Formats: sequence, structure tokens, C-alpha cells
Amino acid sequence: MSSVLGVGIATLDIINLVERYPAEDEEVRAVAQRRARGGNATNTLVVLSELGHRCAWAGVLPREADGEFVRAELERHRIDLRHVERPVKGKLPVSCILASRRTGSRTIVHYRDLPEYSFAAFDRIDLSSFHWLHFEGRAVQELAPMLEKAAAGPVPVSLEVEKPREGIEALFGLADLLLFSRVYALSRGFDSPEAFLRQAVPGGREAWLAWGDAGAWCRDRQGRLHFHAAPRTEVVDSLGAGDTFNAGVIHGHLSGWALPRILEGAVTLASAKCAREGFDGLAEVLG
Ligand code: FRU
Repeated sequence: MSSVLGVGIATLDIINLVERYPAEDEEVRAVAQRRARGGNATNTLVVLSELGHRCAWAGVLPREADGEFVRAELERHRIDLRHVERPVKGKLPVSCILASRRTGSRTIVHYRDLPEYSFAAFDRIDLSSFHWLHFEGRAVQELAPMLEKAAAGPVPVSLEVEKPREGIEALFGLADLLLFSRVYALSRGFDSPEAFLRQAVPGGREAWLAWGDAGAWCRDRQGRLHFHAAPRTEVVDSLGAGDTFNAGVIHGHLSGWALPRILEGAVTLASAKCAREGFDGLAEVLG
């Protein structure tokens, strides 16, 4: 069993399922509503835990009702919380999400009023007790010294680059493996995954890019491109599909698979996530 440390956020997601995405100033009734734990890093950890890895989270969990809900959910998934900062002040970030039944899209309005995870807390973690270190690409200032410390050690480091964040490109050289999103590639002016991976990413390290229902690409250390198409899936819930893909890539590496198998596994896992609500029971997909 491998152990993974994930650095990033947890959120409360309030998910409203609507028949179709409404127009501005319209009132519509939701078909269903649920509250769930979310946040990119904890989503990835929960999937890795489902896949049999020992996972620890480094992030901030305030001592209030939503924080308690999320703590219980993380404990249900056996996530080790000993490195978590638990301030008495502050509010867990909340995402109000509209999930459209017609298109499968998920529109997120995110609110955050919480201190960032500190380098002081990160610095107390014994990184050598892990087989993999995964970082969510946000809060660039706080992230930089953490990645510098991680990069100086022997444990593999992955960096998720989902949203454009000022200065994040300066951190690319500190990760062994970069996990990009379509949103990020588009924000850099690329609507071709191949062109993005060839032109926008520094060489010498693996770069992964999931592209929704088209499938996913990877550029290996030698600069070769690999592609795997996504199976046709009826989308039930695409929330966290990218985070699930990232878990699939990390899982494949920890399992010692060759790159094409990792790519196929990660695409299969992300598609299976889209076909179900939430993240429970995903392990069965990879056999
Ligand atoms: C999905 C997600 C949600 C969360 C939002 C934060 O990738 O992590 O669970 O509310 O993104 O950006």
C-alpha cells in the first residue's frame, strides 16, 4: 500500500440538479439537491483512498458546522487528518453548483474566506514517510516554498494546474509531473491539446492534459505525445472528473504501470466518475 500526501482545499459543495441551465434573472426549481464534500485536492485523495492508497491531507478545516461535516466525510474515506490546520475562526469555502441534466455541465460559484495553509504547518510534515506528494495549483505564494522543499527530496511530486493563477508558471520546474486542465490550456490561448503540450510546457517532465469527452493526452519525458479517447458515457455528474483523472494518473504511477496503461486507466476512471454521482465505489472500475 502506497501513501500519498495531498496539499490543497476542502469545500462544502451545494449541488442543485436542474433540468437545464437557467437564464440570468430567471427562477427555476431544482430537480434534486445534495450537500457534499468537495475541493480538488481532497477529491483526488478520496479517489486514491478508494483505490487502496493510504492518504493524508494537508489543508485548512475550520472548527464550525460545515467543517465538521467535511471532517466526518474525510474520515469516512479514511483520510489522515493529522497535518490539517483547524482554526477556530474562519468559514469553510462553499461552492454553489448548478448541474445541468441536459448537458451534464456543472457551473460553480465559489466563495472563500479562510486563511491559507501555512508553510509552517507543511514544514512540520515528514515528507519521507510518503511515496507521492500532490499539490493543488493555487495560492501561488504559499505554494512556492512548499514545492521547493518537496522538490529537494526524493519523493515524486505532482502539481495540478487547473486554473490560470498569476505566477504559477514559475512553479512548473519544481514538479516531476504536471496535470493540466482544458480550462488552463484555453486560458493560454490553445484550443489544440497537442499544440499546448508541445509549445506551452517545459520539457523533461511528464505533462498530462484531460480534455473532457474527447479524452486525454500526455507528453512523456522524451517529448512524445500519447492520446486515449474517452468512452461514450451518459454524463450524470461531471463534478470532480478532472480531480478523478489526476487520481488515476497518480494511481497508475504508484502501481508501476507503463504510460499508455496509466493514460487508459485515468481516462476510464474519469469517465466512470461522470457516469455516477459522487466518488464512492470507483475502485471497481479498474478491476
Ligand atoms: C471540483 C471542485 C469542487 C469544488 C470546486 C473548487 O473540481 O473541487 O468540489 O467546489 O471544484 O474549485
